[in-house]
Amino acid sequence: AKILVLHGPNLNLLGTREPDVYGRTTLSQINRDLALLADRFGVELESFQSNHEGALIDRLQASVGNTDGIIFNPAAYTHTSIAIRDCLSAIMIPTIEVHLSNIHAREEFRHRSMIAPVVMGQISGLGALGYTLAFHALLEDFAKRGL
Ligand code: DQA
Repeated sequence: AKILVLHGPNLNLLGTREPDVYGRTTLSQINRDLALLADRFGVELESFQSNHEGALIDRLQASVGNTDGIIFNPAAYTHTSIAIRDCLSAIMIPTIEVHLSNIHAREEFRHRSMIAPVVMGQISGLGALGYTLAFHALLEDFAKRGL
């Protein structure tokens, strides 16, 4: 089985970016922890970050036929991108939406997620742990699908 971990804009700055909101864990640490988990559970895992909406969409489209689950933090595109939502609807790969911060406890404009209606579930507010939990949620789903 294969998992794609997708990170949206500004998440490359994790560690130094508003640490009170997003924590001090860097993106490389998050990716490394997930890679270790993947090794332990015998799953293939690839991580990709982009600051560009189209690049995220290209990567999602390229995962059709070779990816069984997606862990996705679309960052600010969560709240704006109909294009990313349409892409997720089109590719039909089970996806878990992850946010480090609790988007529902922040500014009004962060309360709405364009992608929430088309993903398997959303994890928000648990910091870097959210990615680990999303990984385990996908493993459960793989087991159900006999992967
Ligand atoms: C975020 C929350 C978004 O509102 C914000 O634009 C981000 C990060 C999070 O992980 O908490 O860039 O997705």
